[in-house]
Amino acid sequence: MSNAPIGVFDSGIGGLSVLRHIRSLLPHEALLYVADSSHAPYGNKSQHFIRERAITLADFLIAQGAKALVVACNTATAAAIETLRKQYDLPIIGMEPAVKPAATATKTGVIGVLATAGTLKSAQFAALLESYGKNVTVVTQAGHGLVECIERGELATDQVRNLLEGYLKPLLEAQADTIVLGCTHYPFVRPLIEEIAGRDVTLIDTGQAVARQLQKRLEEKNLLAEAGKPSDVTFWSNSQNADAEEVLKLIWGEWSA
Ligand code: DGL
Repeated sequence: MSNAPIGVFDSGIGGLSVLRHIRSLLPHEALLYVADSSHAPYGNKSQHFIRERAITLADFLIAQGAKALVVACNTATAAAIETLRKQYDLPIIGMEPAVKPAATATKTGVIGVLATAGTLKSAQFAALLESYGKNVTVVTQAGHGLVECIERGELATDQVRNLLEGYLKPLLEAQADTIVLGCTHYPFVRPLIEEIAGRDVTLIDTGQAVARQLQKRLEEKNLLAEAGKPSDVTFWSNSQNADAEEVLKLIWGEWSA
């Protein structure tokens, strides 16, 4: 047993879509969340830059006493998870686009993956396609500009709608019936994606699976917190936006309920 906290980070507020699943599955765990918003988006940055940021954030969370880390960011996982696992001796859970479940779920044989440019061009994503994408057609689409809007708390503006319509069009035209939300920011615009894609399209995100994987790793290492009252969640953000705290509170308040 360990009542030490779990450290979670993302390039910004996207990882809150993972944190809410962790909170709901493991309410007794103390959680630390870092939004590296002043460096977002990661999606168009070099792998070297993202690795350096991941090490800085991991050092910070470990200095706060973290017993495990969750990289709640597909882009940072692709760039940095191997480096982090080599460098630190604690459970580190990452995330990747859900190509495997999508390939199982599709009936048309076509799946769409909406993710950042960084994730889509990574070696990890190529390996994922090699392992699970061979018997289906995989249509990929980078979501340029979406993270910036979501970081400003814009979840349903005309700009977001226009971007999403443009990005979903090629996936829908290719007959994708299953779309992977391959960036942790995108679940926050899920209602709009559902509206544009229609009821026949299944959307898959990995937040819940990551929370279950975290639980499993903590169990294996005998690191779960003692059951008691729900524990605290502590947030840090280095956002330069004046209303960053409001946006974080709004998103966490609305989506963790
Ligand atoms: N939320 C992140 C992801 O899952 C990164 C988005 C970004 O900063 O570009 O990929």
